[in-house]
This record gives sequence, C-alpha cells and structure tokens, in this order.
Amino acid sequence: MEMKKLLDDSEKYLMHTYNRFPVAIRKGRGMKVWDTDGKEYLDFLGGVAVNCLGHCHPKVVVAIQKQAQRLIHISNYFHIESQTKLAKILVDNSFAGKVFFSNSGAEANEAAIKLARRYFKELVGQNKFEFITAINSFHGRTLGTLSATGQEKFKIGFDPLVPGFKHVDFNNVDAIENAITKNTCAVMLEPIQGESGVKIPDTDYLRKVRKLCDRHGILLILDEVQTGMGRTGKLFAYEHYGITPDIMTIAKGLGGGTPIGAMLATDKVAAAFEPGTHGSTFGGNPLVCSAAIATIDVLIEDDFMLDQCRRMGIYFKKKLEELQKEFPLLVAEVRGMGLLVGMELTTDGAPIVTKCLERGLLINCTAGNILRFMPALIITEKEIDHLVDILAQIFDRLS
Ligand SMILES: Cc1ncc(COP(=O)(O)O)c(C=O)c1O
Repeated sequence: MEMKKLLDDSEKYLMHTYNRFPVAIRKGRGMKVWDTDGKEYLDFLGGVAVNCLGHCHPKVVVAIQKQAQRLIHISNYFHIESQTKLAKILVDNSFAGKVFFSNSGAEANEAAIKLARRYFKELVGQNKFEFITAINSFHGRTLGTLSATGQEKFKIGFDPLVPGFKHVDFNNVDAIENAITKNTCAVMLEPIQGESGVKIPDTDYLRKVRKLCDRHGILLILDEVQTGMGRTGKLFAYEHYGITPDIMTIAKGLGGGTPIGAMLATDKVAAAFEPGTHGSTFGGNPLVCSAAIATIDVLIEDDFMLDQCRRMGIYFKKKLEELQKEFPLLVAEVRGMGLLVGMELTTDGAPIVTKCLERGLLINCTAGNILRFMPALIITEKEIDHLVDILAQIFDRLS
C-alpha cells in the first residue's frame, strides 16, 4: 500500500492512542528497518527495548516457522511443551522457583500484584494489601498497574483507580521505611526507571530495600519488564546488586519481538496461586514460547551477547559523554547501564528525534527532554559512531 494512503487509513480507522511518526515500517533485519517507500533506518529504539537480538533474528524466525507448522495455539487446560521448557530455562537462570506467563508487561505486573496480595491473605493469614511504589515509576496501563505507576499524567480521566498504592521518592530508602504500615504487603520497583528517563539508583539502594523488606516481612517485587533479558548487560538487572527479589516481572525482550510476558516468583510465594486463581487464554502459548526459547538461547549462549551488550554500553556512553563535552549547554547528563542509555538535554528532545528520523535514525525521547536509546544487543561501534556523528551535526545547528 502506498504510504500516504496507509497513513490516511490509520488516522481514519485506528483509535488515536499513539503519537505516531508519519512513517510506516515494512521490513527489518538486524539493526536496520525499511519503510514502505524503501527508505532505510538504523533502529536505536528497538521496538522500545523489545528487539533485543535485532529484527528478524534467523534463529527466532526459524523457531516461529517450525512451531507455526506444528501447533500455534492450544489452551492452558493442557500441558504445553515449549511453555514448560521456557519456564525451566527461566528458573534455571534466575532466583525463581515458578513462572506464570502473560502476554505483556502490564499483565505480568497485574499477576505480581494479585500474587502478593493473595500470598498474605491466603498463605500468611494477614490482611496486607498495600503496595509502595516509586514516584516517576512506570508499571503499565491496566487499571491495577496504572495505580501502581507513579506518574499522574498517565492517570488523567481514569479515576477511580485501584486503592492500595503509595508512591515515594525513588532512590530513597527512608521514604519507603516511613511509608510502611501494618497493611503493606510489598515494595514494587523498577531497578532502573526506564520510561521516566533512565534513572539509575545508588549502587546500594536495592540492597538496602531488600534488607528493609526482610526486616518488615514484606515482599520485594522487581519490575524488570524493561531492564530484563540482557538489556543492562546481565540477564536480569538485579544480578548487578547482589540481591534477589521475591517476585520479578519481565516482558519486552523475552519473546524476541513476539508478545509474551512472565511473572516469576520463589516457590514459597508462588504457592499462593492455585488452579482458578489466575490465568490467561493466550499466556504462554506455544508460538511465543518457542520464540522466547530461541531468544534466550542466543542471549545466554557463551555469554557472548551479554558481554557484547556490556562492551557496547560502555562505548556508547563514552561517545555520548564526548558529545556532552562538545555541547555542554545542550547536554545536561549521560547515564546508562548496558544498552539502556539516556541523554538528558537542556532543551525539548522532540525536534531532535524528528531530525534524526529525517536522517534515517530511529530514536526516542522520554519525559520531554531525555533521549533514550535501547538498540539491539548486536549493535556495533560503527553504528554507534554513525548516530553520534549525526547527533553532533544536529546539535551543531542548534547551538
Ligand atoms: C518497567 C515497565 N513496566 C511495565 C511496562 C508495561 O509493559 P507493556 O507495555 O508490555 O504492558 C513497561 C512498558 O514500557 C515498562 O517499561
């Protein structure tokens, strides 16, 4: 379909929930995508941290093709080979004892919220139901996860929200301690706040929060929807901090581009879910689980991909810091871990994103002035250099 007609039809038939760029992407390979007019782009947005192995990784494509020929869907009333296999891989490579599969990050977080409440009510025998989450957090857009989210702008027009969520300053252990009451069941945090602009807490923050939760007998839920699946240079971000959560949620990179999320928990906490207490028609379906198995296989094979992510993350930050030195009036800060990288500007980021798009680069601006980069872990130094060159040219014209 011709691009103009496609854009007109999108406007006419789709609900206007997204601020879309006037571009339709048709094809992708590795770090590159092409629009319907054949124009090529380098993708530093990576489907918002989803395309961790790049677009259409051959192993993921083959896994999907093979599974599609064998069995696309079967209900969770039956055991599913690829779902069980994927659960075992996740358990073998994490703190967790059990896994529940969902279709998205928000649904994984919904499952976590339900599990934490049920754990106290049904297993511990205490009516604890309150969650403490962080200001500027993002946990999803369902009513429960919107209530957990610590940003008012996403909540306008949707009240009444789900009761039982308190928001406190991120990176402040005392603020959590002061908010704990006899009703508190869990603290829920992103290890790094992604959506609000790649905010990295002090190195001992999560360790202190873990201790605090233990002291008060409450659960620690880590939302690794964005930071998980190798994004920070370890399979899960909590591994950087020498702690383990009681519950963790993942999604985005898990399925190599297919829609799958997961909620992982220790055996002790997971025991609160019994047949009929939670479920999903599509969650953990054969097709997405096969894609996820292929994705994780590549991610953890010989530590190559995670090592590449760490090395490229360091290089990326160094190059952006050089840019900051060159344009100190435009760039306030560069921060990142692995390939979750943010550059805080002193100016509105949207025009820079548009200029990058014109120059064949897909990037993202979040929270108004923070350029966020979440490229595939297969990115090369040359591709980073190309982005930095173009940013330098754009900044040069602005300054
Ligand atoms: C940390 C975090 N949690 C949850 C979500 C929601 O995930 P989804 O959009 O798959 O529902 C996101 C999405 O950006 C996220 O970054």
